[in-house]
Amino acid sequence: MATVGRPRRSCLAVPGSSVKMLGKAQGLPADQVFLDLEDAVAPLAKADARRNVVAALNEGDWAGKTRAVRVNDLTTGWTYRDVIDVVEGAGPNLDCVVLPKVRDASHVRWLDLTLTQLERALGLPVGRIGIEAQIENAAGLVNVDAIAAAPRVETLVFGPADFMASINMRSLAVGALIPDYPGDPFHYVLMRILLAARTHDRQAIDGPFLQIRDVDGFRVAARRSAALGFDGKWVLHPGQIEAANEVYAPDQADYDRAEAILDAYGHHTSAAGGRVGAVMLGDEMIDEASRKMALVIAAKGRAAGLTRTGGPAGAPS
Ligand code: GLV
Ligand code: MG
Repeated sequence: MATVGRPRRSCLAVPGSSVKMLGKAQGLPADQVFLDLEDAVAPLAKADARRNVVAALNEGDWAGKTRAVRVNDLTTGWTYRDVIDVVEGAGPNLDCVVLPKVRDASHVRWLDLTLTQLERALGLPVGRIGIEAQIENAAGLVNVDAIAAAPRVETLVFGPADFMASINMRSLAVGALIPDYPGDPFHYVLMRILLAARTHDRQAIDGPFLQIRDVDGFRVAARRSAALGFDGKWVLHPGQIEAANEVYAPDQADYDRAEAILDAYGHHTSAAGGRVGAVMLGDEMIDEASRKMALVIAAKGRAAGLTRTGGPAGAPS
């Protein structure tokens, strides 16, 4: 079955320490924003950032966007206070918490139980706030299946910068290929995350591309994870948003073809269509597996707001 969920083609990072950027982000066409209390915020600015984030969630206009907050990781002394202040202050206006540097499922379970406590105490619906688990160290990747299975997890998010540091990768170019390596050094990591995510019906989100002025480079990196099946990517700058929205939606021709496959297969497997299991659509033989593939493309296209153009791409025969 196609993994569905909130649209997350573009997930915009917004530093919680910047009131200006918290304001500007509201008018940008990102599917998701995550208001950051972690690595984009200096240690001395953490407390102010919590207040800014609560105010922005309550007073801002985030219509049409998924609203997330990234808290600090569980090796710091900040995490519990981040969660308590944000949920007590703005729980009804918060959709998800992003938990960074998850090493194993106990980190997610801690957050699940803490959110449950807060929701009960505040009279909020229990379980509504989702969790996004960042996979960005060796331990997190080794334990990724159990992390994906943990309660409330909506997405697994690759964190290339921390991951590269964690495994001592010899490059400073985050999100880009490494010329000395004859292949894609991130293929295994991305595929591993994707398999864990799909096993548990979660979304898989690619991490940031730090060269923010190189939008073409961003697009190339995004196309690699989109080709594997990733649902979206973090964006660090407004200039990356349109590219992400485009790359993680199917193109129009693929979308039209997917809808045509669903129509043709639906018709031919029905009693009226002769209960046939495999049928020609144009030059291609389609069967039940084709229907499943078409469902994925059609679901992503519909979620991205695509509508069919023209007639069916290839008449059933
Ligand atoms: C994101 O958090 C990263 O470490 O790349
Ligand atoms: Mg990180």
